[in-house]
Amino acid sequence: MKVTVVGAGNVGSTCANVLAHNEIANEIVLLDIKEGVAEGKALDMWETSPVNMYDSRIVGSTNDYSKTAGSEVVVITSGIPRKPGMSRDDLIATNAGIVKSVTENVVKHSPDAKIIIVSNPLDVMCYTAYLSAKVDKSRVMGMAGVLDTARYRSFLAMELNVSPKDIQALLMGGHGDTMVPLPRYTTVGGIPVTELIDPAKLDEIIERTKFGGGEIVKLLGTSAWYAPGAAAAQMVEAIVKDQKRVLPVCSWLEGEYGQNGIYLGVPVVLGKNGIEKILEVKLNDAEQALLDESAAAVRNVMGVLDGMNVL
Ligand SMILES: NC(=O)c1ccc[n+]([C@@H]2O[C@H](COP(=O)([O-])OP(=O)(O)OC[C@H]3O[C@@H](n4cnc5c(N)ncnc54)[C@H](O)[C@@H]3O)[C@@H](O)[C@H]2O)c1
Repeated sequence: MKVTVVGAGNVGSTCANVLAHNEIANEIVLLDIKEGVAEGKALDMWETSPVNMYDSRIVGSTNDYSKTAGSEVVVITSGIPRKPGMSRDDLIATNAGIVKSVTENVVKHSPDAKIIIVSNPLDVMCYTAYLSAKVDKSRVMGMAGVLDTARYRSFLAMELNVSPKDIQALLMGGHGDTMVPLPRYTTVGGIPVTELIDPAKLDEIIERTKFGGGEIVKLLGTSAWYAPGAAAAQMVEAIVKDQKRVLPVCSWLEGEYGQNGIYLGVPVVLGKNGIEKILEVKLNDAEQALLDESAAAVRNVMGVLDGMNVL
């Protein structure tokens, strides 16, 4: 069982580290374009194995895709991250070229891989990868909802002073300020969250969630990596262990939720075949309107990409 992580920067190396510590794959290949970075980080991680008691092998590679051959899952984190004052959409020109060439190399060496995109702007980078990979839509997906719901759940846990383990939540839409957290589908130990928290406070938490990425960019000067790396690793685990996890995943829609020909976050069943099923839950008019607004924002960026002649 081999998993490749492309991009040995903050998110990629964190993801590889979580995969190794939890023995999610026997072999983890970390690849980066910068000479020596992936090899150095892979070696450093491997040297923790006797301390942390795991035996997943971690191999580093400077742009040699032959080492990634036969990967079951490939996580793509290569690209530039946000700096203060930048939106995710500002990254499009640079990251689309990177995601396209990386995806082509990945598919050449691992034609059966499930591909998880992390690079931003997320929804449009999934679209870039899907067009470049030319494989079934079930095998090209993006990580955003797992992170965004984790942020939402962690803020709720702080507010209610309960374990984050007991908070279940659904969040849909694009990975941007128009994401759609759904309080109606949020529970705390089975209790609807609206029973436990007043509406004004809940709205405040939803707003904080929408700008959760920006909050960290402001503090750190660059984008987050611990939670994004762990979230991507959770998706890898669901696939390699065929767990059939129900997770919010950025998926190619063909009519679901009234959206066609777009990548958006929706709840799916994630297993060994990638996205095995898109779950369609009922949205009320207000929720559907928010989802449509989020889709319009993603389509806007898709239009910018289409006009760039990168693909
Ligand atoms: N989807 C999400 O929820 C989410 C969360 C956090 C970050 N991100 C995005 O993930 C991406 C990575 O963020 P980061 O903080 O790890 O950035 P980073 O700068 O720390 O790492 C990016 C790495 O990609 C490498 N790279 C660039 N071009 C490459 C290529 N052609 N082939 C191989 N490697 C290449 C760079 O050398 C660098 O090491 C950014 O686009 C960021 O916006 C997404």
